[in-house]
Amino acid sequence: MSKSLQAIRGMNDILPEQTPVWRYFEGTVSRLLDNYGYKQIRMPIVEFTELFKRSIGEVTDIVEKEMYTFEDRNGDSLTLRPEGTAACVRAVLEHGITGGGQVQKLWYIGPMFRHERPQKGRYRQFHQIGLEVFNLDGPDIDAELIIMTWRLWGELGIRDAVKLELNSLGTSESRGRYREALVAYLSAHHDKLDEDSQRRLKTNPLRVLDTKNADTQAVLVDAPKMADYLDEESRAHFEGLKARLDAVGIPYVLNPKLVRGLDYYSKTVFEWVTDKLGAQGTVCAGGRYDGLVEQMGGKPTPGVGFAMGIERLVLLLETLEQIPEEISRQVDVYLCAFGEEAELAGLALAERVRDQLPNLRLQVNAGAGSFKSQFKKADKSGALYALILGDDEMAQQVVGFKPLRGQGEQQSIAWDALAAHLATCVVQG
Ligand code: HAM
Repeated sequence: MSKSLQAIRGMNDILPEQTPVWRYFEGTVSRLLDNYGYKQIRMPIVEFTELFKRSIGEVTDIVEKEMYTFEDRNGDSLTLRPEGTAACVRAVLEHGITGGGQVQKLWYIGPMFRHERPQKGRYRQFHQIGLEVFNLDGPDIDAELIIMTWRLWGELGIRDAVKLELNSLGTSESRGRYREALVAYLSAHHDKLDEDSQRRLKTNPLRVLDTKNADTQAVLVDAPKMADYLDEESRAHFEGLKARLDAVGIPYVLNPKLVRGLDYYSKTVFEWVTDKLGAQGTVCAGGRYDGLVEQMGGKPTPGVGFAMGIERLVLLLETLEQIPEEISRQVDVYLCAFGEEAELAGLALAERVRDQLPNLRLQVNAGAGSFKSQFKKADKSGALYALILGDDEMAQQVVGFKPLRGQGEQQSIAWDALAAHLATCVVQG
């Protein structure tokens, strides 16, 4: 196939054999979020470029080198969203739904776009489930977000494979004081820093803490510590969060170097990481952004949220073999009919059964075929039972009911009794 007719590098098709796991994951998360009282919001995929520059920060990797930005036919600069927080803040402001201190607990799902170097767990189109809470400023809600994800890992059977890393960035004032101290220290060791860190020292010094370079890491050992610069309010907030995590029994690791790649955070930041996926081990990340709404032109409005990467969590489920067997079965019952008359009767019978059992996954054979070929298709479909309509069954107005997975003998069931019989043997979703 010519290259121009292939999918773009880093943008993947999710094939039918993969979608059951995606739907299982998305279904589990959305049910959990409903149960905790979160409401879904859907934002456009494209926004004005300015929105992301203003919120994520001009000197972040995302804005500097990863955005899919283009000019539309009106000459406006637009960008495929690299994340969801900016658009969510824009939406709540535009519709006035956080005005007057109204609490909003919102979640969203969808594709995000970043021009990163594709590798396992890192793509150019990827999918997030994210959530944002507005107008709650206490550590109780930060704790709720983390508790909720902890419950999710439990439901998915991956709790043992993920670890929570936690830090507090303080208020913008305390972070400003810390930044000054860090810049003074790093400037004194300028020659020992790697090139990228030297650049970051000028543009976004806190990001130096995030370096993977061993020499720079060695310099950082004696650098000023963020925790020593925290203001009283942020310290109390952080203690409040830790006390709640302790109360519920959620283990965490304090990581004073956790600064995140987006500029809008204040106070709490956290990441759930796994060592089971190689280099791209962060499966869920977020934090508090109390200044962002105001920065975007709204009234001061506290905010906190996170987003998880669906590809990475699906990979983790697959790696740990935590995929419930029943989710890949998409057919309960497969109806085989032999001859034109039986096909017509089969169609009508199938529709009557669907009237009575709307959740039954009933597949009617299409394309006719011999006894052998229809049975092969029934078996391949994964169905638990085959229904058989041949000349004998037609004469007696019954249907052959044949277990395909070795649970007993074939029986004859009267057409009128079929739905009731199926209701007793197929568990319906
Ligand atoms: P983020 O850390 O940039 O935060 O992304 C959140 C998660 O999205 C990551 O932990 C990862 O699982 C997934 N992810 C990010 N980039 C990629 C990629 N190229 N390929 C695959 N997965 C990826 C945010 O986006 C913030 N908006 C989170 C937030 C919400 N903070 C507050 N509210």
